[in-house]
Amino acid sequence: MTQLVHSNAELRLAMTGLASNICLVPTMGALHEGHEALIGAGKEFVGKDGCVVVSDFVNPKQFGQNEDFEKYPRNLELDQKIAHKAGAHILWAPSVEDVYPGQWPMEIENDSRFDILEGKSRPGHFAAVIEVVTRLFNIVQPNVAVFGEKDFQQLVLVSEMAQKRVPPVGILAVPTKRDFDGLALSSRNIYLSSDQRKVAHLIPDALKQGVLVASKGANKLEIKNRVIEVIKQTDLIEIEYIEVLSNDFKELAPGIVGRILIAAKLGNTRLIDNMPILLKEKL
Ligand code: PAF
Repeated sequence: MTQLVHSNAELRLAMTGLASNICLVPTMGALHEGHEALIGAGKEFVGKDGCVVVSDFVNPKQFGQNEDFEKYPRNLELDQKIAHKAGAHILWAPSVEDVYPGQWPMEIENDSRFDILEGKSRPGHFAAVIEVVTRLFNIVQPNVAVFGEKDFQQLVLVSEMAQKRVPPVGILAVPTKRDFDGLALSSRNIYLSSDQRKVAHLIPDALKQGVLVASKGANKLEIKNRVIEVIKQTDLIEIEYIEVLSNDFKELAPGIVGRILIAAKLGNTRLIDNMPILLKEKL
């Protein structure tokens, strides 16, 4: 069975003599098949002599005032079963004090990309994510860490931070795992009512349509309009943003693969998704 540990000392003890190739899969718990895919990718990457540590920590700092920190789903027993099924060696569920010891403040350098897309409606979110992931890296000292493409902005920002570390932490990016109807798996999907869940597939459907019209030569405005058209088949989804950008969040030039990104609300539940997109070059 995957070993469940809590304190940093317990973690260190569990890791002693296990392996020199350490993979960290940072999560906030509420594990689902998407996390299983992250753990599986990490396990494959480190091989049979490697060790996969899954952190299970609902980071209070990355939630805004009106966000769902209190009601964020928590079920450590189930998480341990899922982590075990996916092949993790250790499930580490630290306390706030373990991750944020009082005597150890940390300044995160601001980056203008913290304030766009997700950061626009979630001020302070990315500084908090970078801080917590740095702290998790400092404690676990992994060689590699696994992140999902669903949180694309997080993936890009964390990858840069990981690369600047000495020694660097390799980042393994895993494609978004989707439900039967294409909805990106997310711990927040359980908040959806059955009516909302029935129409939620319009989010990935709309992105696919955006990608399709882009391949036929549509410009950014036309792509966005097509996405809106698909989503507007229901009035249960409210779009927060649709953006077509380069993989480092700049203007996307034709002929280079970038991303189409969306955030949308179904009632109080905010979902995000993204897909690779290529704007057709004009001949
Ligand atoms: O993606 C998440 O679940 C969180 O943002 C992370 C990376 C575990 C940091 O708390």
